[in-house]
Amino acid sequence: MRESGDNYADGRYSLLQALPTGYCFSEFEIEEVVGRGGFGIVYRAWDHRKKRAIAIKEYLPATIVTRRNDLILNLRRASFQKRFKTGLHCFMREAHIMGCFNHPCLPRFLRFWQQNSTAYIATPFYHGVTLKTLHVRYPKIITQNWLCNILFPLLDAINTLHLAGYLHCDISPDNILIQNDQLPILLDLGSVRKTTKSLTDDEEITVRPGFTPYEQYAANSEENRQGPWTDIYALGAVLHTMVVGKPPPVSIMRDIEDHYHPLTQLCPAGYSASFLHAIDCMLATDVSERPPTIAKLVSMIKPCIFQASHIPAFTTLSSDILANCLYSDSSISDRQGGT
Ligand SMILES: Nc1ncnc2c1ncn2[C@@H]1O[C@H](COP(=O)(O)OP(=O)(O)O)[C@@H](O)[C@H]1O
Ligand SMILES: [Mg+2]
Repeated sequence: MRESGDNYADGRYSLLQALPTGYCFSEFEIEEVVGRGGFGIVYRAWDHRKKRAIAIKEYLPATIVTRRNDLILNLRRASFQKRFKTGLHCFMREAHIMGCFNHPCLPRFLRFWQQNSTAYIATPFYHGVTLKTLHVRYPKIITQNWLCNILFPLLDAINTLHLAGYLHCDISPDNILIQNDQLPILLDLGSVRKTTKSLTDDEEITVRPGFTPYEQYAANSEENRQGPWTDIYALGAVLHTMVVGKPPPVSIMRDIEDHYHPLTQLCPAGYSASFLHAIDCMLATDVSERPPTIAKLVSMIKPCIFQASHIPAFTTLSSDILANCLYSDSSISDRQGGT
């Protein structure tokens, strides 16, 4: 089991591991470190051929490898070889999964390559801030309307993964990037897994206390079956964090003794009872009480969207679910000029 890391914030040790500014992979020149987790480093780089910024993710599990002076990675111990290979395999799978989707709110795959005894994934660089940073720096921006506006494109992206038989398994505020035009990107497909597939013995489970539902801790147990409701719990925890400033209690603790305070009882100012009720349902410990699919969740929070002041970017979305939800209702058509 592995705990998802935080963004780049932890100083010298990580800096020593990163590739230096100016380092080039052919036409890509490293400019800056923009993200740092336990398993890799994300750089902003400049694509000299296409004259645009890109993001390059490097597989670098800091507890397993160090970087030599010639910038090639070295195992900390020979016995770590198998762990490194397993992680590398997951990293390759992340690249493969990215390449399977073409959605405006999922990172677009540009290139994968191996070098420096490790591997790299290039995607466009998305200008914006993660929800985690935004929540700390600009808390006043976050209102129910604002959340609804980012929520619906995000739900569309998650639904696209679900319809293809995948679960994201690591939805959290630092994996949601809000671009300058407010369109969210659901980053980090590193933990994505097939809904139907059991984990092999050496595959690790990603857990993020507060966001990971109970069933994900015991991923292979029959009675803890994962499905769209697993991502729905994590998304509920993201919304909870945005609304009250912290995630719900850790799910495995809730399973022993539940100290969760329903938002419908806390009644935070500025939020409607139906929106808060939807979040409470998303965070039910009993999976049968959660909305089982994104479609069900959308129908549940549909009334909240009518309160949202504007609906940006929906026209660019790919799946039918939100379009049906939004445009089948005459009151929306009226509000938008009866199209
Ligand atoms: N394409 C991108 N554009 C801009 N920033 C990015 C991009 N990809 C990742 N980041 C930044 O790097 C951080 C870590 O990226 P992520 O893919 O989540 O890797 P990790 O597996 O290390 O968590 C993100 O939280 C975000 O701040
Ligand atoms: Mg991440």
